[in-house]
Amino acid sequence: MLTIIGIAALLCVLIYNYILNPAFFSPLSKLPTAHPLCSITAKWFDRQLSLRKELTTLLVAHQNNGPVVRLGPQEVSVVSLEGLRAIYTAGLEKHPWYSTYFANYGTPNMVSTLEHRPHSVQKRMIANVYAKSYIQRSSEVETLSRVIVLEKLLPLLHKCANDKSHLNVMPLFQWAGIDFMTAYIFGTGHYTNFLQNKHSREDYFKDRSKILDLDKSGEDNAMERVCMRLATETLASQAQPHQDHVDGTRPVVFGQLYSQLVQKNKAEGEPLSQEDLMKRCASEMLDHIIATHETFAITLTYIIYRMSLDLRMQERLRAELSTLQPSVTLGGAEKTLPPPADIDFLPLLSGILTETLRLHAAAPARQPRVVPEGGIMLHGYYIPAGTKISSNPYSLHRQADVFPRPNDWLPERWMAVPDRPKDSSSFPPSAVIRKWFWAFGSGGRMCIGSNFATHVLKLLIASIYTNFETSIVDDEGIEQSEYFIATPVGNKLIIQLHPIE
Ligand code: HEM
Repeated sequence: MLTIIGIAALLCVLIYNYILNPAFFSPLSKLPTAHPLCSITAKWFDRQLSLRKELTTLLVAHQNNGPVVRLGPQEVSVVSLEGLRAIYTAGLEKHPWYSTYFANYGTPNMVSTLEHRPHSVQKRMIANVYAKSYIQRSSEVETLSRVIVLEKLLPLLHKCANDKSHLNVMPLFQWAGIDFMTAYIFGTGHYTNFLQNKHSREDYFKDRSKILDLDKSGEDNAMERVCMRLATETLASQAQPHQDHVDGTRPVVFGQLYSQLVQKNKAEGEPLSQEDLMKRCASEMLDHIIATHETFAITLTYIIYRMSLDLRMQERLRAELSTLQPSVTLGGAEKTLPPPADIDFLPLLSGILTETLRLHAAAPARQPRVVPEGGIMLHGYYIPAGTKISSNPYSLHRQADVFPRPNDWLPERWMAVPDRPKDSSSFPPSAVIRKWFWAFGSGGRMCIGSNFATHVLKLLIASIYTNFETSIVDDEGIEQSEYFIATPVGNKLIIQLHPIE
């Protein structure tokens, strides 16, 4: 008899905890749900994830229910400016999801660090070398851009155009992205040079599981080995008197982080061994490299796809690029590139990049945080402490009242009124839509590489469209995947380059 009462009591507790409380009594029970099952189980949304339908599910849930939607018993999604302020500007701490997936060498870095203090200590060590003003004035950026664009990329593209051979866009821009990033991190004396070095890029990419399947991250892999080798070689060359950056540009990011970590370690009585110091440094550097190759390749693939469908847009961009002095061509005797600030200023080029990052944000999915003690109020709802809460660029960038014709690629929506299409008089001013642009996140955990990315991506687009017209040969799989990164399914955009006479 006692056993029956015990089982009945246990059942009552379970029913209360797992069904009645989350569905009827929790403060979150007042929120609309993406699906009725979301009140009592996280499994419904997990299923959408496993079907790789995360992004469209979120968009439809917000279109049907408004800016705040419950995704599970303890998870909420928010799509509004008020939400961005309350979650990201207010600096809610990251969800443990980040520490599970983003550490390299079993060692934390900025992305994987959840708590504010250790994160901001590490961020302060390197933030200045990623500032826009630093990048635009850096002689290292100027030199490495010249080396990669004029000595590697453009000769390769010209050869491809002259041979009339086809070009698979996505891998090419992975290599270019890694070359730019490693040259900035380690200097041109120790960078990857994947645009030219087929053998070493094959070695690096032989295990892409770390990028494409987050469940496999954390395992030792080729990317970790390559990054540690570059870091070790860079350090060794710096240790030789009079040798630093003789063979190339300074190792800007590595040099900065390593010297700051050594200083901190000394000040704290040397708790880290030399091996641990190198792992701390390489973990951060590898994260920047991985952040670069996927995002650059995805963004440039979509830009070339969109531009190749619109010859008129190519002509308009070429006219704008022709105002640059010197132009981004191989022809000039002095072999220089236009000043970064001049490239940055071009309105149509900026519109093309921003509109592509809106429609095909390279990191389009949820960026989860945890609600702190005391909870928060959002759109009149109380969200209790411990709730997993996020926003996502995919849904933010498709709000039809902010971005009319949200599924159309319209670079002009970011430009001043006279440059806009004739039928766009009802478009909100670009100052308003900029507040909704969230491809790089916002607040203290916003992308540290956004200025570097903007500079290099604009330079690469300028390099291509000053010199070539592009047309599509095969776009199998270009449809955006509904996954945490926007990689085109199948990674395939094959184009033909036609030289501009
Ligand atoms: C088109 C290019 C890029 C896009 C769209 C992009 C997007 C993002 C986004 C959305 C976040 C915020 C993630 C979150 O809070 O969950 C982020 C963070 C970050 N990104 Fe990027 N990124 C790009 C390029 C880069 C580059 C070139 C670097 C190299 C330095 C980089 C390094 C980082 C790092 C280290 C963080 C973490 C910052 C922190 O936690 O403080 N990203 N990125």
